Amino acid sequence: MALRQVVCVAVVMIILVCTGCNSQMSECGKANLNTKIIGGQDASPGSWPWLTFFQIGSFLCGGSLINNQWVLTAAHCITKNDLSNTTVVLGLHTISVPSPNTVQPTIEDIIQHPQYNNETYDNDICLVKLSAPVNFTDYIRPVCLAAANSTFYTNLSSWVTGFGKTGPNSLPDTLKEVNVPIVGNNECKCYKISPPVTDNMMCAGLKAGGKDACQGDSGGPLVTKKDDSIWVQSGVVSFGEGCGLPQKPGVYARVSQYQEWIKTIVTGPTPGFVTFSQPGIDSDLSFDCTSLSTPSTTTTDSTPTPTPSTTTTDSTPTPTPSTTTTDSTPTPTPSTTTTDSTPTPTPLYHNYCLHPYSYPLYHNY
Ligand SMILES: *[C@@H]1O[C@H](CO)[C@@H](O)[C@H](O)[C@H]1NC(C)=O
Ligand SMILES: *[C@@H]1O[C@H](CO)[C@@H](O)[C@H](O)[C@H]1NC(C)=O
Ligand SMILES: *[C@@H]1O[C@H](CO)[C@@H](O)[C@H](O)[C@H]1NC(C)=O
Ligand SMILES: *[C@@H]1O[C@H](CO)[C@@H](O)[C@H](O)[C@H]1NC(C)=O
Ligand SMILES: *[C@@H]1O[C@H](CO)[C@@H](O)[C@H](O)[C@H]1NC(C)=O
Repeated sequence: MALRQVVCVAVVMIILVCTGCNSQMSECGKANLNTKIIGGQDASPGSWPWLTFFQIGSFLCGGSLINNQWVLTAAHCITKNDLSNTTVVLGLHTISVPSPNTVQPTIEDIIQHPQYNNETYDNDICLVKLSAPVNFTDYIRPVCLAAANSTFYTNLSSWVTGFGKTGPNSLPDTLKEVNVPIVGNNECKCYKISPPVTDNMMCAGLKAGGKDACQGDSGGPLVTKKDDSIWVQSGVVSFGEGCGLPQKPGVYARVSQYQEWIKTIVTGPTPGFVTFSQPGIDSDLSFDCTSLSTPSTTTTDSTPTPTPSTTTTDSTPTPTPSTTTTDSTPTPTPSTTTTDSTPTPTPLYHNYCLHPYSYPLYHNY
């Protein structure tokens, strides 16, 4: 009897200790230093310590550290064939400035979601295993992941971060962040984005456009702060129709759909899955497309619409006269002020934007 009690206590303690020590729950989502991306601003160092930089051949993507040896990214970014041609950097803030806060691990494995569809972008999610565990610092730390059944209501404030394009021909040197509201799936489907938005996806962006992820941000995290304390990843940057166009929110893989898959693949400490829920009812559940009564044409989006949109669209580098909104940082890109001074976004921009968000990287890291 006594023995049994002791055994039970011991078993309970082992279970408690092991769920504690074998999970990333107490580590994830904390950005100790957190006091285009289209329409964004420079992040400050350490604000987004899970943000992972990938250069895959000549393409650029983002990712998020989810435990000490695994990074979540987009399936369209990377396949097993890229194993030997990929650079990963953790803790990166400015590409051109070497920093003791960065580490450049090698990759051991790349596991795309088995149901990833490269035409519909359904299940655009992928796990990358680093060759060895990394040590956490203020600049390198895992994010928490949205658990199954998490809900993200329309207008919920979220952040997307990355080294992706800030304008038609501009790649930033410093990590960008942009604050975007969630757009519920019913509303998002009204915008007739191509390929169509599925339940495995979610959307974020302003109805008026001007703030968005763009090429090179793919694979990076969309995060929301829970209870004013920890950051929870809701989405993985996947694709968009244009960048920052009005009524064309960015589309993300919906992380909460993948808790089981992630758990079956990831070794080591279990990523910190957190259920994100909100009180009340999501207005999106009763969203009716006819309420989008703006004078917009149901654009097949051949031209990225007239003035207000395009100015906000290429936001950052070009000092367009109008942009009162969206863009707090007028000159975020020190390096690439490029040639695209005039707002002629149509052909170039449009072409790129029909493709997922990966983009040749010009910087040599
Ligand atoms: C590796 O990446 C470089 C660009 O950095 C590219 O030129 C080369 O073709 C890639 N090699 C393979 C095997 O994909
Ligand atoms: C999708 O993948 C299939 C099979 O790997 C390949 O043949 C096809 O070219 C890919 N399509 C696109 C659009 O990348
Ligand atoms: C992590 O920290 C330990 C203890 O300081 C050290 O021995 C180890 O080399 C570090 N690992 C890496 C990958 O830096
Ligand atoms: C999610 O909700 C469904 C239906 O309400 C329930 O059956 C399932 O157990 C929930 N899953 C988790 C992980 O909470
Ligand atoms: C979302 O925010 C916009 C702009 O503030 C507002 O017009 C709209 O009514 C809000 N929608 C919901 C569902 O809260």
